Amino acid sequence: MSKRFIVTGCNGYIGSHMCYELKKAYPDCWIHGVDKVEKQHLGHLYDIFSHTDLAVDPFDLSPFKREPIDAIFHFAAYTSVEEGEMRPFEYYFNNFVGAMRLIEEALSYGVPNFIFSSTAAVYGERKDSLFGHLNEDQPMNPHSVYGKTKQMVEEVLSQTYGMNVTCLRYFNACGRNVEAGLFEEHDPETHLIPLLVKNKKAIIYGDDWPTKDGTCIRDYVHVIDICRAHLLAYENMSKNAGVNITINIGTGKGHSVKEVVDKVNEIIHNGTMEIVTQSRREGDVAYLVASTDLANMYLNFRAEYSLDDIIESMK
Ligand code: UFG
Repeated sequence: MSKRFIVTGCNGYIGSHMCYELKKAYPDCWIHGVDKVEKQHLGHLYDIFSHTDLAVDPFDLSPFKREPIDAIFHFAAYTSVEEGEMRPFEYYFNNFVGAMRLIEEALSYGVPNFIFSSTAAVYGERKDSLFGHLNEDQPMNPHSVYGKTKQMVEEVLSQTYGMNVTCLRYFNACGRNVEAGLFEEHDPETHLIPLLVKNKKAIIYGDDWPTKDGTCIRDYVHVIDICRAHLLAYENMSKNAGVNITINIGTGKGHSVKEVVDKVNEIIHNGTMEIVTQSRREGDVAYLVASTDLANMYLNFRAEYSLDDIIESMK
């Protein structure tokens, strides 16, 4: 029987890439896309679309009782660290209430597998050693509202029984699928790489962090790698019962903001960028780099794309 999936946030950056990769992996699958934003140019990625705000609108799975859903991929959320600091209530409401209503519906209709889009922002700053790779046992200590909203959903899912759950904590998702004609789109755009690609002026938020060159270090992971991790997580859950696990998805390699600026300047702008430094941004932490051991061992996942590949894809 062909697979049936729900992808929330299907018109968002990672959700749209996921729909494309699901159709590639399971060509006869059926995808129900859910999003509170309509984007007609992405309509070919899914089979039906619900224009739904999960935190507010009714979302009823009862029409699918006869042909059950194999898995829900839950991407729908606000995703900017910067914006969350300015609009905390909206972030808590949208990300937490939306997820709670979806989980409740998934449980009442017996959806067997649930994959949650979590984030490295749940970690915050390591107290013991600043520059260790973060592993999943590290206590959650988010510095940003955005990270807190994801932590709250993770806490609930860790105590949710009756369906398989995998929380994937992505590090810095970036890049795009050129073949699919998809883009990294956020509104407003606050993410480093798309801003650097779009503008010839680079703003570095703080060069006084305790890092090798004073700028923040992040683990930049290609969206196609992230989608592949979801496929592996789904395959694992479809063969097992009682799965409830949280896994980092990153490359295990850190790059400073200055390094990223220099690479984008070279690859995209032929060295013509203007680079300025401003004060630190609210909610940031110095260093977020994944330990990839659990993803390697449990999902047999290793990121395949480098930072250069990511920037090249943005040309
Ligand atoms: N930065 C700049 N200038 C900019 C934009 C960003 O210096 O114009 C810096 C930020 O201060 C940060 C780094 O670049 O140090 C990366 O910033 P992003 O906004 O691109 O990404 P974040 O690390 O803040 O957050 C991203 C995702 C989150 C995820 C997190 C995990 O947006 O969803 O990565 O590491 F949780």
